[in-house]
Amino acid sequence: MTDPNAAKRAVAYAAADLVKDGMRLGLGSGSTFLFVLERLGERMRNESLRISGVPTSTSTAAAAQKHGIPLLGMVEIDWLDLAIDGADEIDPHKHMIKGGGAALAREKIVAAAAKEMIVIVDESKIVPVLGARFPLPVEVLAFGWKQTERAVAATGCIPSLRRTASKDPVVTDNGNYILDCKFDGIADPKRLHDQLNAIPGVLDNGLFVGMAGRVIVGNTDGKVRFLP
Ligand code: A5P
Repeated sequence: MTDPNAAKRAVAYAAADLVKDGMRLGLGSGSTFLFVLERLGERMRNESLRISGVPTSTSTAAAAQKHGIPLLGMVEIDWLDLAIDGADEIDPHKHMIKGGGAALAREKIVAAAAKEMIVIVDESKIVPVLGARFPLPVEVLAFGWKQTERAVAATGCIPSLRRTASKDPVVTDNGNYILDCKFDGIADPKRLHDQLNAIPGVLDNGLFVGMAGRVIVGNTDGKVRFLP
């Protein structure tokens, strides 16, 4: 039987194998990134690799600790050698939508502190235009979220408050809400990014514009390739 996680594992392992001894890492979030932690833990045991990392979510922090990876807080670092993270969509300019796991704000802060952000995706995440399929996550303060939602909608989307299975609002690690915003494709990601972040009540949005360094793409046959 084929491994349903073959592409994710392959791309995550390829990224983890680029990590060098002594590096301080930005530890991304999501199901693909979990395999990076698995491989880093293995390399720490087998090759005595010494690393540490700033986690982008409480769930990544817990998973990293399980693999014995020492954690750092953002206040302890000036910069990071490398951030590794997944994405929900990536376009031909390497602009991305992130935040499917509600960790977008910390992911962006951590990636911005890194010398390079390595992005790991499977083929399904590559799109010609962002936002035609995946709704753009926008993190908003709970205070006044309905007003914020109206202003977000005026940028040309249909926002919807992300809820848990029991219908409560999803609360991010920062104590905020997430609006998942359905666009009919995002023609100008940079412009929309700036427009959304200028709205009172918006903490950040899931557009990562011009932040990706190397992008590694995994296939179900276990092969990987780098985007040119
Ligand atoms: C977390 O908030 C996200 O940005 C993830 O990095 C992104 O959703 C990719 O997740 P998967 O690897 O689970 O698809």
